[in-house]
Amino acid sequence: MSTFKYVGLTAPGQLGYVEAPVPSPGEKEVLVKVEYAAVGPFDLYNTDLEFFVSGYPYRLGLSGAGTIEKVGLNVDDLKVGDRVAFVAFAYPNKALLDYAIQPRSLVSKVSTPPFVAFESESAVTDTLQIPDSLPLEKAVTFPDNFATAFYTLFSQIGLPIPTEYPSKTSPPRSAAPILVYGGGATSGQYMIQLLALAGYKNIITAASKHHEDYLRSLGATHVVDYRSPSFVEEILAAAGGKLEIIIDVIALSDTFRDIHTKLITPGGSIAFLSPFKLGSGSLTATDGKLVSEVLEEVKGWFAEDVSLIVVKTFFFQEDERLANTLLPVILSKILEDGLIAPNRTRVFEEGDLLARVQGAIELVRSNKANGEKIVVKLT
Ligand SMILES: NC(=O)c1ccc[n+]([C@@H]2O[C@H](COP(=O)([O-])OP(=O)(O)OC[C@H]3O[C@@H](n4cnc5c(N)ncnc54)[C@H](OP(=O)(O)O)[C@@H]3O)[C@@H](O)[C@H]2O)c1
Repeated sequence: MSTFKYVGLTAPGQLGYVEAPVPSPGEKEVLVKVEYAAVGPFDLYNTDLEFFVSGYPYRLGLSGAGTIEKVGLNVDDLKVGDRVAFVAFAYPNKALLDYAIQPRSLVSKVSTPPFVAFESESAVTDTLQIPDSLPLEKAVTFPDNFATAFYTLFSQIGLPIPTEYPSKTSPPRSAAPILVYGGGATSGQYMIQLLALAGYKNIITAASKHHEDYLRSLGATHVVDYRSPSFVEEILAAAGGKLEIIIDVIALSDTFRDIHTKLITPGGSIAFLSPFKLGSGSLTATDGKLVSEVLEEVKGWFAEDVSLIVVKTFFFQEDERLANTLLPVILSKILEDGLIAPNRTRVFEEGDLLARVQGAIELVRSNKANGEKIVVKLT
């Protein structure tokens, strides 16, 4: 039996090499030879807080990109050699592995041209670069965060699923203000782009000021610095009053208590990406407690008619409209048409694999990702 070595958690907080057999795909599965895997906050929570860790060794990585190595029974629309990107939601089938088994339903095809990529922040405003195809190191930025953005907007909040991209008709209430709190984060950038593609016209975001031009180029209409002492007043001015929809991709308890309570309108909805950081002032701080539910204490800060929606994309396939289409059809088509700019990336490709993964995790831990997707080159 042939084997390979991957880098995973060997003990709490401890990264190391682990040997595993090269697996074979079962029915409706594919085997991907992974070239790039993304590392993000969830991997840090696994590493530093044992969040979701079921035992050791534990595998990391929620998004991968590579080529199809083998195809299982009853997969008739992918073949050996196809370039793909996937979300790795079915443990132990994670992404930070040279060889990853994935259900067909969690895989998007990464086609060749046409594709228009935003290569750097400065390039956005002047030159659009048009590579021959979407590089896999860019494709890997999509699966988890795109799926999360789509699921949040069109399933969890319940905005109508667009029938075409970009939408040629305006959705109902397209001018109503929507706040994306954390638009500088990689998932927030996809929220903004999807809202713009769907025809929403008043997309307000909270992000560091230096992202303003970039986020406007993605579709944001107002960018407010979340560190501003007059943040609440600036958002209310941009929105023309309180908001019906807030999407919080950062989900700190302080923001809910001190900010969202002042911004949400009676009967409004606040969707947040799990986990909720209770008692912590930072996306990556390990001083607080991570929770995957809406706590009674938090509910108590809001009027009873405000909906608090916890988004757990692991469960997106429970929405039958998305189960077999979100990755194989919708994302594949959006990639093919080049309708959404990939996140900017920081790729770790120097040194041995362990050093690359350690460097990537450390960058996430430092909270200095600066809106870039952290990517590890595997081969
Ligand atoms: N439940 C799910 O299904 C799901 C799926 C995906 C992600 N998530 C969760 O969503 C969160 C974000 O993930 P991500 O991958 O998008 O993160 P990311 O790209 O690593 O986010 C980094 C960015 O977060 C922003 N940020 C940090 N602290 C902030 C604050 N206090 N206020 C506003 N912005 C802040 C910074 O933006 P600036 O550069 O503008 O300062 C930074 O660039 C994580 O907790 C992740 O686990 C959950």
